[in-house]
Amino acid sequence: MTDKPVLVSGIKPTGDLHIGNYFGAMRQQVELTKGGEYKPFIFVADYHALNSVQNAEEMHRRTRELVTAYLAAGLDPKEVVLFRQSDVSAHTELCWIFDSITTMPYLMRAHAFKDAEAKSKDISVGTFNYPMLMAADILLYDTAVVPVGQDQKQHVEFARDTAEKFNRIFNKEVFKLPEAYITPEVAVVPGTDGQKMSKSYGNVIPLFGSSEELKKRVMSIVTDSSGELPKNVYAIHKLVRSEKELKPLYEEHKSSYKELKELLYADLERYLGPLRAKYEELASQPSVVDEVLEAGKREACAVSEAKMEQVRNTIGVR
Ligand code: ADP
Ligand code: TRP
Repeated sequence: MTDKPVLVSGIKPTGDLHIGNYFGAMRQQVELTKGGEYKPFIFVADYHALNSVQNAEEMHRRTRELVTAYLAAGLDPKEVVLFRQSDVSAHTELCWIFDSITTMPYLMRAHAFKDAEAKSKDISVGTFNYPMLMAADILLYDTAVVPVGQDQKQHVEFARDTAEKFNRIFNKEVFKLPEAYITPEVAVVPGTDGQKMSKSYGNVIPLFGSSEELKKRVMSIVTDSSGELPKNVYAIHKLVRSEKELKPLYEEHKSSYKELKELLYADLERYLGPLRAKYEELASQPSVVDEVLEAGKREACAVSEAKMEQVRNTIGVR
């Protein structure tokens, strides 16, 4: 296929994108796919999202929004295989095979499962099994690197363990061991309340919201006057401006948090405005997304089918 190391990453179509998704994941994914260092596969993890999105219209709309967002963020579909997980049935087939060699106590160690269990005991089998579908996503493409946020690190380790276990049981080097790729300085983007930005905490700054909405969210950032500077404002500001520039600015305006928020809003608008314009332009041409997904499906199916042939031969189902 290619001698370049393969890069794989997925994102669930589960909610409106926020700047935590962008600075914590999408931006690196897009940057890493440029320059030709890797052979990249990026996909919309719709089967992972099915655990929470159980409405056809919403699944369809969010999938398209996500593809549009990646294109607006600069992902080049000529360089990147951009596809929808459910278009490539090898993902769910391999997931079943991994289920059969994995134990329940092992999966019970997953942080995501423990968090879900702490909230409610009514967990879907799909939520429990999430790491095995993700292992399949990754291992089908002989992946070398998986760019993800800190919270997904354990899932990549599960994929490694599963690759090793399969190779050991069947005594054959079928799967390559992947590595997580995490950029430390943006590992966790804080929300407007200082906690991790997350759609579940209601503390997000939307990625493609209107300029008025952006301003409203920035003005709502929680500040306290105990420290040297409004740390929640600063933490978001340093995503779009260097600390060297920010230090004197925060010193100069230290008596007015409102002015600092206005400066942050202006910088965010300068950064996000062109992204939003590109998004809107692409959203007005739906055939672009259709064509990208069709081409992505073709290439992802070809690569993953070849791997599945090897897997089926190895386990003796053919
Ligand atoms: P949310 O927490 O809003 O539900 P998701 O879990 O859907 O977000 O995350 C999608 C991707 O964005 C993941 O790769 C995740 O690591 C990254 N991500 C989400 N929120 C943040 C954040 N606050 N900081 C850094 N990365 C984030
Ligand atoms: N679990 C990831 C998240 O919540 C999404 C995902 C699914 C993924 N499959 C993947 C990420 C494979 C990287 C590789 O963000």
